Amino acid sequence: MTWTKACSTSDIEEGEGYQLKRKCPIALFTVDDEYYAIDDTCTHDESSLADGYVEGDVVECAWHFAKFNIRTGEVLSLPATCSVATYATKVEGDDVYVDLPD
Ligand code: FES
Repeated sequence: MTWTKACSTSDIEEGEGYQLKRKCPIALFTVDDEYYAIDDTCTHDESSLADGYVEGDVVECAWHFAKFNIRTGEVLSLPATCSVATYATKVEGDDVYVDLPD
């Protein structure tokens, strides 16, 4: 596992996304005090899912409103047809780490 420090727990608010900027950006969310990391780029086009609308454990893309499960990455509605990748997270102290491929 390659744990990468993503942000502080205080950077991620329930109901909001946090974008970890990198070549392939990651969107982080918190739901029920658990932290989740998924690919940030919507599989329909290029929108950032961190900028989407969060309701419970679902994020709705801000551009054309495809929905994804934050916990599993599963695509839930058109126009997207492919799920997004998910990444393991852990919290140490006040820091959130994501297991990212090199
Ligand atoms: S870019 Fe996300 S639904 Fe179109």
